[in-house]
Amino acid sequence: MINTVIFDLDGVLVSTDELHYEAWKRLADELGISGFTKADNERQRGVSRLESLEVVLEKSDKTYSLEEKYALGEKKNAYYRESLKNADSSIVLPGAVETLKLLRNRGIKVGVGSASKNTPEILEKTGLIGLVDKVSCGLDTDKGKPEPDVFLIAAKKLGSAPCQCLVVEDSKAGVEAAKRAGMHSLGVGPYGRTLGAEACAPDLASGIDWRELCG
Ligand code: BG6
Ligand code: MG
Repeated sequence: MINTVIFDLDGVLVSTDELHYEAWKRLADELGISGFTKADNERQRGVSRLESLEVVLEKSDKTYSLEEKYALGEKKNAYYRESLKNADSSIVLPGAVETLKLLRNRGIKVGVGSASKNTPEILEKTGLIGLVDKVSCGLDTDKGKPEPDVFLIAAKKLGSAPCQCLVVEDSKAGVEAAKRAGMHSLGVGPYGRTLGAEACAPDLASGIDWRELCG
């Protein structure tokens, strides 16, 4: 029986996807990498900062040392954080607040499982921090999705067994991570983006039957 729901952050609870894309695009342009597209950005969903950078560098003929790659990741993060400077509850996606409240009212434990190291700050700025029980993020592990670590850490913090957890994801890597963690999965977003999830919905505002999902 499911008694815990673990939400991904970017693209599920908040609309930061476009900001990530713009920051990577800015870095790519600076590095003289042309042709970094939204399709490339799709492959960055859920994966760690360093792995996201690898997607950008695929289109470069220059080789970078690990040290240089960390510095480039920091640079992109500075651009991303610049765009988050004035972030507030307006970046919270439709249905997110209502869903978190509804689940907690029903006694379901609620966690966040995100590869992003910016997770705590975003949760604070948007006010979502007060609506979740535990947070697991890129500060807890360097392993991004599809590795299961970020979800397993969330489950441990929440005191739940993996089979009691439902993961809500907007990415293919995230759905795969949930599977590897031995958890159930609900995909949100356009059809096809979360293939393999046990259930799917366009977004959190579209009348998801939580009673049926969580039993
Ligand atoms: C995920 C995003 O949530 O976090 C990825 O979907 C991003 O695109 C990853 O690369 C790491 O984020 P950050 O904020 O630590 O660079
Ligand atoms: Mg996501």
